[in-house]
Amino acid sequence: CGIMGYIGNREAQPILINGLRKLEYRGYDSAGIAICDGATIGIRKAKGRIDVLESQTQKSGLQGSIGIGHTRWATHGRPSDENSHPHFDQSGKFSIVHNGIIENYLDLKQELIEKGVTFTSETDTEVIVHLLAQEYDNNLVAAVQKVAGKIRGAFALGVMTEHEPDKLIAVRMASPLIIGVGENENFIGSDIPAILEHTRDVYVLEDGDLAILTKDSVHVMRLDTTEPIERELVRIEWDKEQAEKDGFAHYMQKEIYEQPRALRNTMTGRIDTTEQKVIFPTLQLSEASAKRVEKIYIVACGTAYHAGLIGKHVIERLAQIPVEVDVASEFRYRRPLFQPNTLTIAVSQSGETADTLAAMREAKRNGSAVLAITNVVGSSIARDADDVITTNAGPEIAVASTKAYTSQLIAFYLLGIYLAQAKGTLDADTRASLLQQLTALPDQVDHILQHADEIRHFAESIKDEQHLFFIGRGLDHAVSMEGSLKLKEISYIHSEAYAAGELKHGTLALIEEGTRVIALATQDELHEKMISNITEVKARGAKVLGITLDGHVELHRSVDDVCLIPQTDALFTSVLGVIPLQLISYYTSVALGNDVDRPRNLAKSVTVE
Ligand code: G6P
Repeated sequence: CGIMGYIGNREAQPILINGLRKLEYRGYDSAGIAICDGATIGIRKAKGRIDVLESQTQKSGLQGSIGIGHTRWATHGRPSDENSHPHFDQSGKFSIVHNGIIENYLDLKQELIEKGVTFTSETDTEVIVHLLAQEYDNNLVAAVQKVAGKIRGAFALGVMTEHEPDKLIAVRMASPLIIGVGENENFIGSDIPAILEHTRDVYVLEDGDLAILTKDSVHVMRLDTTEPIERELVRIEWDKEQAEKDGFAHYMQKEIYEQPRALRNTMTGRIDTTEQKVIFPTLQLSEASAKRVEKIYIVACGTAYHAGLIGKHVIERLAQIPVEVDVASEFRYRRPLFQPNTLTIAVSQSGETADTLAAMREAKRNGSAVLAITNVVGSSIARDADDVITTNAGPEIAVASTKAYTSQLIAFYLLGIYLAQAKGTLDADTRASLLQQLTALPDQVDHILQHADEIRHFAESIKDEQHLFFIGRGLDHAVSMEGSLKLKEISYIHSEAYAAGELKHGTLALIEEGTRVIALATQDELHEKMISNITEVKARGAKVLGITLDGHVELHRSVDDVCLIPQTDALFTSVLGVIPLQLISYYTSVALGNDVDRPRNLAKSVTVE
C-alpha cells in the first residue's frame, strides 16, 4: 500500500491525489483521501485505480490544507469502497491511513464490538481508529501512543482528528514511512516518490518512531516517551524513476531485495509464539476439517508451479498427506481422479492466471475444496476459492517472479505445519524448532543478499554461454527448476534443470569440456550422492558452481566455484538456495543488456488459456 499526508497552506486534495498516483505501483485496488478544512474532516474513497477517486473528487471535492491519502493493496478484506482507507471512527472526527498488518485485530475487534462499536469494513485497520477514539482525552499524541501499545504487528500510520486540526501524526513500526520537510508545509510518505516533486529533504523514521507534523514544524519522538529525539535530515538525490525503484536499477532487483520483508509479512499474524503453533485466523479450513483431508492436488503455472513442487515435499513430509502437483494447463485434460476429502491448492501470484483458474474450477466441479495461495486479495482466484492464504509480498512488477515465489514457499511451510498440527504428525519440540528456524529465514536471506557481488562476478562469466545445466536432488531439484526458468526468462540462455541422479540416463551425453553446471547441494541426506553426481559431470569436463550450506567443506574440493548459504532445516533451504539463482539470472540479464523487467514474449499475468 502507499501512504501520503500533507499539512501546509495549499489545497491538500490535488497534492494527495498526485502523490498517490506516484505510489500506484505499490497497490492499486482502491484509494482514498481524508481532508480537514480546519473544522471537519471529509472523506472520499473508491474501489479501483486513482482515476476513479479523481473523477469522484472532480464531482464533489474536498477543501482544506491538512489531509491523508492511501492507495491500497488488500491484505485483510477484499478491495471495495468500504475497505478502502482512510478509515474513520463512529463520530467521524478521527481518520487514519495504515500500511501493514495488525496481528491481534480479531481479538481487539471482538472487544470493541462488545463495547458497542459498529464496524463498517472488513479490514484489520479499522480497529485502530476506533481504539483511538476511545483512548482520546484531549491529547492526540498520547492517544496514538496508547493505541500503539495495544496493537501488535506492522504498522505505518497517518493520523488526524478534528479535535486538533493543526497537526498530523505519523507512526512507523516495521512498515516504512518518511517525513518530507518543505517550506511552511510538511509531508508524510510511505516512500520517496510520493513527495519528491515537493521536497528532497526527508526524515526516514525508524521503527517505534512517532512524528508530529504541523505546517511549520516536525517533531520526532519514540512511541513510549514524550521526549523529542533527533533524526538526521537526509537529502534525496534520486530522480523520479530511481525513486520508484527505491534506488535500485530494476524492479526485479528491488523485489529480490524486498524478500526479507515480504517473508516476514507472510509470517506475520500466523505464528502463535506462546503455543509455538501456526494459526490462520481467517481460514475456513479449521484443524478439525484439515484432519479429514486425505489427498491434495496442487495446481499452478510457471514459478508458482515450482513453489508447488516444494509444497508437495513439505506437506508430505510434515503432515503425511499424499500430494500431486500439476501444471494447471495439463490438469483438466489428464482427467485426475478425485476422491472424497480431496483438497486442491491453487497457487498464483496474480490470482488471475487463466490456466490456474480453469484447473481450480475443474477441481471444484469434482467436489474438491479449493484453497488459494495468492498475492492478490480479491483476485479472481481468491474470489473463486473456498479459502485463501495471502502471501502479503506486496505488488510484484518485474515479470520474473522472485519475492512472490519465496513468499509462496513460506505459505507452504506454514500450511504444512498447520496440517501437521491437525493430523498430529509433528511433536511439539520439532514444531517449535521448525518455527524458530522459519522465523530466522528473513535475516538469513538478508545475509545472502549482502554478498550479491560475488554472484555478480559469476553471472558475468556465464553470459556468453549457449547452454547451461542446473542439477540437484529432492527439494534442490525443484529449486533448480526455478533457477533454470529465471535464467531462461530474462537472459534467454537455454538451460535445463535435471534431477542429478537422472543425468546418467541420458543428459550426461550433453556434458563436454567447459559446459557450465550449477549444482545445488543443500540436502544433508543427499549430500554424498550429489558429490558423486558432481564428480560425474566434472569428469566430462564440466565447470561447476556448487551452492551448499555453510560448513560443508567436502563440496569445495569437488567444484570450481562455491556459494555458501546459511544453515537451516533441510525443508527450508529452498528459500535460501534460490536467492543466488535469482541473482545469477538478474546479473546475467543485466550483463547482456536485456530488458530485465520486461523480457521478450512474456507477460506478468497471462489471462488466456
Ligand atoms: C506468467 C509469468 C510467470 C508466472 C506465471 C504464473 O507466465 O510470466 O512469472 O509464474 O504467469 O503466474 P501467477 O500470477 O499465476 O503466479
